[in-house]
Amino acid sequence: PPILKSFKGGAHVIELDVSCPSFLGHLEFVVLESEPYLPFCFLDNDWFCSKVVVTTPEGDTVNFPCYHWISGNERLVFREATGQYVGIYIYHFDSASDLPAEVLLLTVKQSHFALPRVPLKYTPSCAFYMYNWKEDTFFGYQLLNGLNPMMIHRCSKLPENFPVTEDMVKASLFGKNLEAEIQVCQNGVMYVIHRSVIALYSTICCTLSHFLAAPLCLLYMTPEDKLIPIAIQLKQDPGEDNPIFLPTDSEYDWLLAKIFVRNADFAEHELNFHLLRTHLLAEVFAMSTLRNLPMVHPIYKLLISHFRYTLQINTLARQALISKNGVITKNASVGGPGMMEFLKKAVASLTYSSLCMPEDIIARGLESIPNFFYREDGLKLWDIVHRFVQKVIGHYYTCDSDVQEDYELQNWIKEIFFHGGLLYLLHAGIPQSFSLMTELVKFLTMVIFTVSVQHAAVNNGQFDFGGWMPNFPIALQQPPPTTKGQCTESTMLKTFPDINTTVNGMAAVYLLSTQSTDYFPCYFKFHQLFERTPLELIHKNQDVMKKYNFEIQGRNVSLPLSYTYLNPNNVENSVAL
Ligand SMILES: [Fe+2]
Repeated sequence: PPILKSFKGGAHVIELDVSCPSFLGHLEFVVLESEPYLPFCFLDNDWFCSKVVVTTPEGDTVNFPCYHWISGNERLVFREATGQYVGIYIYHFDSASDLPAEVLLLTVKQSHFALPRVPLKYTPSCAFYMYNWKEDTFFGYQLLNGLNPMMIHRCSKLPENFPVTEDMVKASLFGKNLEAEIQVCQNGVMYVIHRSVIALYSTICCTLSHFLAAPLCLLYMTPEDKLIPIAIQLKQDPGEDNPIFLPTDSEYDWLLAKIFVRNADFAEHELNFHLLRTHLLAEVFAMSTLRNLPMVHPIYKLLISHFRYTLQINTLARQALISKNGVITKNASVGGPGMMEFLKKAVASLTYSSLCMPEDIIARGLESIPNFFYREDGLKLWDIVHRFVQKVIGHYYTCDSDVQEDYELQNWIKEIFFHGGLLYLLHAGIPQSFSLMTELVKFLTMVIFTVSVQHAAVNNGQFDFGGWMPNFPIALQQPPPTTKGQCTESTMLKTFPDINTTVNGMAAVYLLSTQSTDYFPCYFKFHQLFERTPLELIHKNQDVMKKYNFEIQGRNVSLPLSYTYLNPNNVENSVAL
């Protein structure tokens, strides 16, 4: 066998001539092995092989994808890229160090989790929000284009446990009538936050010193297309000790009500829409891909770059954030014994259609609400991803029976359903198998969208919106007010978390939204796809993404507040932080 004698660090393409006395026939596999770097065998001499490309004497090119770290005294066999392979990998890990080298993250990132840092200065966005956090219009803006654009629904009927009356909100409706405004909801003028996971298991939960409200909030779209809150109830059950707060109340009654909504949003955002619906789902998809699909499988080749670093970041997050002594457990209002219960309820609230953005937007009645840039950019990116996946799948599968008979693919989705914690969601529409190519295309689009676009939407602005604690408090130290007219500035300051809790929360959101030094945008790496047609599709997809990048930049120039989180250049390829 050929031997590589001179091999230094860095990226290399090495060409070797291999002579062979007789014709080998179809090349099935290559074997790579390495020996320790004697006599200095204690030195780290591992190397990473991306692929082996063999040009045969007949001029054919044969690809052997590797993407493996190779260390001393190891012998690894890699099959040819169009071959078939049946195998199940078993992964078991309790800590990041147990993970295979191929899924490990930069050590610098790991060290950040070990030693969280507090930033020395705010981002420009954060500084802007610091001066605007009390404004009703900014409160409404964040429900559309902030960290958590997932809570708001169109209001076609007031929730029964939210008895807002005409007299209460008359002053906020620009001379309009409440009932009439709800009736004309097709125009999208009345919106509500009423479906929260918090509300599913408790009206109020608290740790020893922290409190969490389960609020309902009514919002109105003004004639100037500005979304403003017009009524807030902090607990689910209406009653005398649960007043409906209004913009016409005293400054601190109204402000404190909004602060409790923002604190509840911290819980919904971090645990449900960020951790569960992007990080943990990405892990389910990644694990099933590693366990069920061989490297040469088209779906493996399509997806694997979208799972870069996910297993490690989730292992670190479980240790640093939601373990017994994790930052969220110890510091957040939702931390403590209620946290796991919250997560279970969050899983129970999951549906397939809520993961598919076009369906989710319609289900929430948000098709026409103006200035909703998360929807505008997200739907465009969904469409771009969908068209790309459709063409790639069309290249590998010719008809529905190809999909039905691909037992590796069927095992992949079966494992996602049965072992990914989704078995309990029989009602939720998650597929257990694929019969049609269109079903496969939709599911793969959802997977790629969830781990790249949706994660970027709920991840990247964490320090922008959460760096100024009053705008996104991790915890509150006083219970929600039960009467009006009692709150002062002093009440508000006593309600905010103490300095330690605040600093821990700021360090967490800073860590979670700081871009990696080896960041790759969502259109960049599909490096396991070798064949000419998929490569052409990748290049076209990259061009489309880059063009949309410019379009968003152009759009943002005219906006008072740029929405940059779904700019394709800012959307990472995988859940990697
Ligand atoms: Fe994240």
